[in-house]
Amino acid sequence: MNSNIIKSIKLNNFRNHENYALEFSKNPTLILGKNGWGKTSILEAIYITLTGKSFRATDRDILKREAGFYRVEVEFFSGEKMIVSYDGGKKQFLIKDKKFTRLPKMYKYPAVLFLPEDLHIVATSPTKRREYFDRVLGQLDSGYSSALSRYNKAIKQRNELLKQEFLSRDAIFSWDIMLAKYGVEIRKKRTKIVNRLNSKLTKVYQEIAKNKDKVEIRYKSYTSEVSESEYLKLLQMDYERDSMLGHTNFGVHKDDFEFLFNGSVADGSASRGEVRSMVLALKFIEAELIEEELGKKPVVLLDDVFSELDVVRRRSLTSNFSENQVVITSVEKA
Ligand SMILES: Nc1ncnc2c1ncn2[C@@H]1O[C@H](COP(=O)(O)OP(=O)(O)OP(=O)(O)O)[C@@H](O)[C@H]1O
Ligand SMILES: [Mg+2]
Repeated sequence: MNSNIIKSIKLNNFRNHENYALEFSKNPTLILGKNGWGKTSILEAIYITLTGKSFRATDRDILKREAGFYRVEVEFFSGEKMIVSYDGGKKQFLIKDKKFTRLPKMYKYPAVLFLPEDLHIVATSPTKRREYFDRVLGQLDSGYSSALSRYNKAIKQRNELLKQEFLSRDAIFSWDIMLAKYGVEIRKKRTKIVNRLNSKLTKVYQEIAKNKDKVEIRYKSYTSEVSESEYLKLLQMDYERDSMLGHTNFGVHKDDFEFLFNGSVADGSASRGEVRSMVLALKFIEAELIEEELGKKPVVLLDDVFSELDVVRRRSLTSNFSENQVVITSVEKA
């Protein structure tokens, strides 16, 4: 098991937790509570200390209403400690007596998060699917996160300009160049990751479902195959339309990922159970890729998914992650 096993966590003014402490049991740690008790918030606090930011909100949303600061203190079995605090304006990470405004890469630790909504990844909106794959890719490749945040910033700036009454084509052009550069980089990385996922997906799926079905992810991008200069041209071809509508039509922000089950689109053809096994397979592979890429066993955070799975799938989940630190939340029956 990894050296970064969490021993305890203390929360102050973190969402509804004014003052809360938890010692982690050997493995897995089970957090039981009624709806609204603050289970997901505990996973969120763990996720922030490991990866540097929340999976669902900003620090302002997290800060307990009417409180002046939040604080998360985590102690690892190695003896190391980390404190994350936020005072309504600034966030701070305190590690070995050193202060940081962002969590430095060397102190980041990967986490595989399994949220109830992930079970619907196959049929959800393209935006949610992109967010999912962006999160996975961002953990595997920090270059991806920075390309994506630059791309998103450029889209925002370009769209703001497009909404102005007197447009400067020159100003738009400088953002077009950025979009082409980072857009192609993002597409290449997405293509690569989908290929890597596909090289394992059917095998892992068959181990879970114990059958011979074939599963595949298809990456759908209007930008596929285009070079940076072609990307730029296509963006510019849409200029009239974009300026009329006030937003950017062409680019990787419109990409989608489609799941195939025995060659057909899974959404509408695969059964609920089959979809669940597909999602499970995806999680297993996510953890496997993280380990291959970063040489660390990710911490596994399972938010309320156990109740959604049958005995066979629960068992395959626990046995697959028997070497990882696992934290599970579940709704306590009244
Ligand atoms: N900034 C905040 N300040 C105070 N309370 C908050 C804040 N943000 C969220 N809450 C509340 O904190 C509570 C805990 O939320 P959380 O999502 O952790 O609950 P949960 O135990 O996971 O619930 P469920 O079982 O429904 O998923 C909720 O009642 C929520 O409305
Ligand atoms: Mg919850």
